[in-house]
Amino acid sequence: MTTTFPSSVPALAETAEQMTCEGRGILAADESIKTMSARLKAEGIPANEITRRDYRELLLTANRLSDSVSGIILADETFGQHLNDGRTFPEAAHDLGILPGIKVDTGTTPLPGLGGALITEGLDGLGARLASYAERGAAFAKWRAVFDVQTITAYSARANGHALARYASLCQQHGIVPIVEPEVLCNGVHDLATSAHATRLALAGLFEELDQASVDLNGIVLKPNFVTPGLGAPPAAASTVAAATFEVLGDTVPRAVPGIAFLSGGHPTSDACTFLADLNATTKRPWQVTFSFGRALVSDALRTWGGDAANVAAAQEALVANCRQAAKAIS
Ligand code: 13P
Repeated sequence: MTTTFPSSVPALAETAEQMTCEGRGILAADESIKTMSARLKAEGIPANEITRRDYRELLLTANRLSDSVSGIILADETFGQHLNDGRTFPEAAHDLGILPGIKVDTGTTPLPGLGGALITEGLDGLGARLASYAERGAAFAKWRAVFDVQTITAYSARANGHALARYASLCQQHGIVPIVEPEVLCNGVHDLATSAHATRLALAGLFEELDQASVDLNGIVLKPNFVTPGLGAPPAAASTVAAATFEVLGDTVPRAVPGIAFLSGGHPTSDACTFLADLNATTKRPWQVTFSFGRALVSDALRTWGGDAANVAAAQEALVANCRQAAKAIS
């Protein structure tokens, strides 16, 4: 068995750059056990430890995935599982030229008295968990804060920004690049201006707290949403989405941040890729832009697979086609 963890830990900025440049992006395959099980069941596939493992092995071992994918975000369950050939997922990822990452937050709970706004948890014992993940090959981590346009306030943005900042500084202490993800959900019928306002609040609260915590901005990757109308509202042109997204990010994200990797948020693959391509064409950008899509890359593969080993190759082709489409948007 080949285990090829780097012999010396690369600098954080170097890893962050590797994650976000060279026309590649990040594959988000870190759904919790609950979410992954629901997605399997929705496709008529039994949900258990083995099917979740088989599905993640299918994704990671797709032919030439590393041409378009620089990193893969794994869930804790997958991080400790083994491929059929006996390697752990992080070992196999390193062997394939893909950086393994780990989702480390433990989910959300309501902030009391705030009308449904959520706070993301998982800081207790995080230092020890990060030390263990680093030892087992994690190059980066992810923590996701979740905001709804209806309930976001400056306070909920700062509270989540504070948790993200504490997570980020702990990651950096352990030589792990933190993906900081303040996601403003695009479910709903709100307009573009509402999304822009909420995203601005979320990012302003985040960068205020990252600054207070002395997080090294050269060694993080930001994972925001595109600024779009709600999925239930009339859509905006991709050029309008790109311009609104650039305006908000330009006002809130310091130039020191090396790379921004967008989530897809439930937008269809082609829409998410067009938003990214238009944003990538914005010449005044100080940061690299790329993708860290989940559903926009994997939904077709999951449907094609359907839990049947005979469909693995076709499912892998569907995944790689979507990853190539996303990579093309940034090259
Ligand atoms: P989607 O691209 O499916 O929104 O997921 C990305 C992600 O990792 C959300 O945390």
